[in-house]
Amino acid sequence: MSSQPKRYTVTAALPYTNGPIHIGHLAGVYVPADIYVRYLRLKKKDVAFICGSDEHGVAISIKAKKEGKTPQQVIDHYDEIIRVAFDSFGISFDNYSRTSRAVHHETAGEIFKQLDKQGQLLIKETEQLYDPEAETFLADRLVTGTCPFCQNTEAYGDQCESCGSSLSTSDLINPKSSLSGSIPEFKKTKHWFLPLDQHEEFIEEWILKGHRKDWKPNVYGQVKSWIETGLQARAVTRDLDWGIPVPLHGGAGKVLYVWFDAPIGYISSTKEWAQKKNIDWEPYWKSEDTQLVHFIGKDNIVFHCIIFPIILKNVGTYILPENVPANEFLNLEGNKISTSKNWAVWLHEYLKDFPEKEDVLRYVLTANAPETKDNDFTWKEFQTRNNSDLVAIFGNFINRVMVLTQKYYDGKVPSMGELKAADKAALTKLKEVPSIMEKKIENYHFRAYSQEVINLARLGNKYLAEHEPWKLIKTDPKRVETIMFTALQISAGLSILSEPLLPFTALRMMDMFQFKASWDDVISGQPLLAAGHLLQKPQLLFEKIEEEAIEKQLQKLKNNQS
Ligand code: 2FM
Ligand code: ZN
Repeated sequence: MSSQPKRYTVTAALPYTNGPIHIGHLAGVYVPADIYVRYLRLKKKDVAFICGSDEHGVAISIKAKKEGKTPQQVIDHYDEIIRVAFDSFGISFDNYSRTSRAVHHETAGEIFKQLDKQGQLLIKETEQLYDPEAETFLADRLVTGTCPFCQNTEAYGDQCESCGSSLSTSDLINPKSSLSGSIPEFKKTKHWFLPLDQHEEFIEEWILKGHRKDWKPNVYGQVKSWIETGLQARAVTRDLDWGIPVPLHGGAGKVLYVWFDAPIGYISSTKEWAQKKNIDWEPYWKSEDTQLVHFIGKDNIVFHCIIFPIILKNVGTYILPENVPANEFLNLEGNKISTSKNWAVWLHEYLKDFPEKEDVLRYVLTANAPETKDNDFTWKEFQTRNNSDLVAIFGNFINRVMVLTQKYYDGKVPSMGELKAADKAALTKLKEVPSIMEKKIENYHFRAYSQEVINLARLGNKYLAEHEPWKLIKTDPKRVETIMFTALQISAGLSILSEPLLPFTALRMMDMFQFKASWDDVISGQPLLAAGHLLQKPQLLFEKIEEEAIEKQLQKLKNNQS
């Protein structure tokens, strides 16, 4: 790819539609991806921000069986909840599709057939667990039994959730099928495999040699250890009745493995988007001057850095990701976030308790993002970050500027007058800070970018505190005009530069300022708000979060446990 990409394809991991989404998802994948994309748009780049629901896989069939529903009912239910959650938090996808849609079935089926035609898949016969009563093969998750380590009688064929041990189905004592209760048997079955072992050299050259410096150490390290252990052929089909039917002779009763089809969902979602816009989707996936970036959590690294790229490279016409900035995990109050233990902050519930505080959560999750290591979300820190960074620094600065402008000039921007050294220094800082932020964002250091936003507001506060316009308004009104003019430019600049992080607040600010500008307008150093421009009345941007609200959240977590 050339150093100046012509367009960007930015993907965010497709969430499974077997449950709602929580703060861990937002912090790890969707907020960073959204910051990146909003920044690119402010830079007037051509960008496609792509996502959708991941609707296949055995977890969805199991959930449906448990709830006495069809898989379709389960995915329709959660697809809706997830869409609303993303929308409420301003995650600004250009397209959000579903892997159950025809466009995806066709795209994934075609890619599978093409790999087969090109001789890049192997067919092997293996022995798999089979339920003789239900007459179906069993995924590891569908076999339960006694854990050999802790004697939990409800351990799964792949893991014991009681002691956390990783298991294989043959470890279980008294295994039984959770479909019929019968004892599973081994039965021969045929599957298609992707021979990953034949592509080790490609991954070594491309990532281990080519991206040692520019990929995150956590991502690079995981790829390195996969390669050191040695790659093995992986089955890309399953004996299941929920998924994309294998489109080949001998594929009856089999579907594509969910991890084969899910990342192809990025491509089908791009196709859907392009079709709606009446443009060609192919440059977004096939042109060397496109920068492809995948935002994911660390559990998805192998699929996005090894398996999917091998598929793309084998097909032959696709570009590879320029970067895969995976995050580590977010814990909650010292413990792993867990759906089954209800140890989570669910997005739809957060908004009920903290209406209109979407940006507060976006900010806290970014300021404390698990960028290099697992991190902890605590309600106490949520409160502190809100009350000190957003209320006392950011909100306070904008409010002071707005209130004083209203009071002194009836909301009209005063004239610039004669700039003194201190005013020039503040305006120079405003002109320089976007390139500092750019570097952070383009290198996926979103925590650092969020602190630059707060620092700019801090600088504004300091400027006002040092020049004390309120003390000069009677004695030196000309000077006050210059001070207020300068403070207003910083405020307007902040509304642009904070937009990727705090889109709802930025919109309110732009509304108050009655203006719109691009990222590069801030860099230009030209006044963003001209003298005489009329502002709207001030509105408070953030409010203090009291102890009581925090206690309530802590209590709620405790109650979920009992
Ligand atoms: O881990 C997950 O939630 C998966 N549904 C992510 C899929 S990402 C992509 F490959 F589609
Ligand atoms: Zn156990």
